Amino acid sequence: MENARRPQLPPLKYRATQATDLARLHELEKASYPATEAATFAQIEYRLSHVPGELFLACLMEQEDFVCTDNMCTMLTVDKLVAFVNATLSASSTLTAESMKTHDPAGRTVCVHSVVVDPEFRRKGIATKCLTAYAEGLKEVNERDGKKYDRVALLSHQELVPLYEKAGFVLRGKSEVVHGPEEWLELVLEL
Ligand SMILES: CC(C)(COP(=O)(O)OP(=O)(O)OC[C@H]1O[C@@H](n2cnc3c(N)ncnc32)[C@H](O)[C@@H]1OP(=O)(O)O)[C@@H](O)C(=O)NCCC(=O)NCCS
Repeated sequence: MENARRPQLPPLKYRATQATDLARLHELEKASYPATEAATFAQIEYRLSHVPGELFLACLMEQEDFVCTDNMCTMLTVDKLVAFVNATLSASSTLTAESMKTHDPAGRTVCVHSVVVDPEFRRKGIATKCLTAYAEGLKEVNERDGKKYDRVALLSHQELVPLYEKAGFVLRGKSEVVHGPEEWLELVLEL
């Protein structure tokens, strides 16, 4: 149920990311992860150009913004990219350091790398909606093209487990991946 105390947000729109989004995606990634963990511009560009569109989803929201030409600025309603989810594919059903490093186009496990929401719009349910739309998009591709994807898997620290559970993921347990001092948990959504 929507939180009655939350102001109503304009509806989100979803589409595959495109090359013109690169600067904005990098800006959001940098604002969301420590420098040692954030994907570089080159990594984001690689994912954008190598993974099918349904694996790199942009979530947009109508916002009033100034659009400027050389000599004037006008206030317009624009679709602002406020969140994204991206992933690569792996043949392994469980996440390993190796499976997170490379993209295997024949893989059937969707390995999520980033779930990012613009800091200005956090705790308004956007990540939950984007993750739900992401999984729905993959199910639609499976129905349309024959089953290509078996599951979506991701790693999380304990504090964000409720976020992923709200989006339908199931906690699998402690991951074998070691990165930084805190343990990683693996969550999976079977498609
Ligand atoms: C994590 C992140 C994606 C959450 O986005 P969001 O749009 O704020 O998430 P939602 O509003 O959909 O949150 C739904 C629920 O998830 C949980 N949750 C979300 N953010 C949380 C946080 N920072 N700490 C603890 N729980 C959190 C809460 O249970 C929340 O419900 P509530 O607001 O009713 O308490 C966003 O904070 C972000 O971009 N962070 C930086 C990048 C990152 O850490 N991504 C996740 C790892 S890949």
